[in-house]
Amino acid sequence: MLKTDYAKVSKVYDKNKGRLDFPKDQEIEKLLEKNEKITVLDLACGTGNYLLGQKKHYEGKNIKWIGIDLSPEMLDVAKSKNLEAEFINASAESFSLAEGSVDLVVCNFAFHHFEDKKKCLSKIYAALKKGGVLKFRNVEPECMKEWWVYKYCPETYCEDMFRFWPKDLMIYELKKSAFVNISAKREYYEKYKPMNELLENYKRRDTSQLAMIGDEYYNKGLSRVTQEASQGESEYKDVIAFLEIRCEK
Ligand SMILES: C[S@@+](CC[C@H](N)C(=O)[O-])C[C@H]1O[C@@H](n2cnc3c(N)ncnc32)[C@H](O)[C@@H]1O
Repeated sequence: MLKTDYAKVSKVYDKNKGRLDFPKDQEIEKLLEKNEKITVLDLACGTGNYLLGQKKHYEGKNIKWIGIDLSPEMLDVAKSKNLEAEFINASAESFSLAEGSVDLVVCNFAFHHFEDKKKCLSKIYAALKKGGVLKFRNVEPECMKEWWVYKYCPETYCEDMFRFWPKDLMIYELKKSAFVNISAKREYYEKYKPMNELLENYKRRDTSQLAMIGDEYYNKGLSRVTQEASQGESEYKDVIAFLEIRCEK
């Protein structure tokens, strides 16, 4: 499995404004109705954008926020946002939190990076309270083959087949790890965007797919994008498919 160097990506990650866009998590609202105080863990929190989004909505509430990430450079960006969260530099496969201490674990756009996914599920299970909630949000490669990254650099799609667990495998492994009440939700979006943004986005090389692929394949893709941009089309089609999986301990 190829690895992404997040020390490099940390410098440009937040330049993609779409990444700052985390809406209010209703799950937290529901947990607060039942508990006086809750603990929320953002696993592989990156630059802290989920925590930043929630802080706006739950300011002053009795919530302990924790962010864990393997990359010190991504955590440095998160820490610069004054989030009043505890940040821990650790891997998703080996972090240590008190057993049964967390009410909600979210893991956004990161599960495909984890080398030992089963180990990660067992760590999450141990950290969650009985009845606690786990939510994964990610893109779903098989449902977005027309994505510009896959279209211009198709080798990235093949690499993603190694990295991502498809929906059914995800559900199967969650069941085997003793999670219950598992549900999945899919979203799909298509949008036409200005052609000049395509070249800009490609060159920023901040998606993990383009950051991890070798220069040879990356440069082949860059030639394709440059050629397309010179053909006079004013727009390109952007597609994205999301998969959210929710379950409980
Ligand atoms: C695409 S970013 C997502 C960051 C954040 N969750 C968000 O939605 O903006 C993936 C993150 O996973 C982290 N990561 C990769 N492998 C990891 C591991 N084994 N354990 C913990 N974090 C990891 C990276 O450092 C990076 O910050």
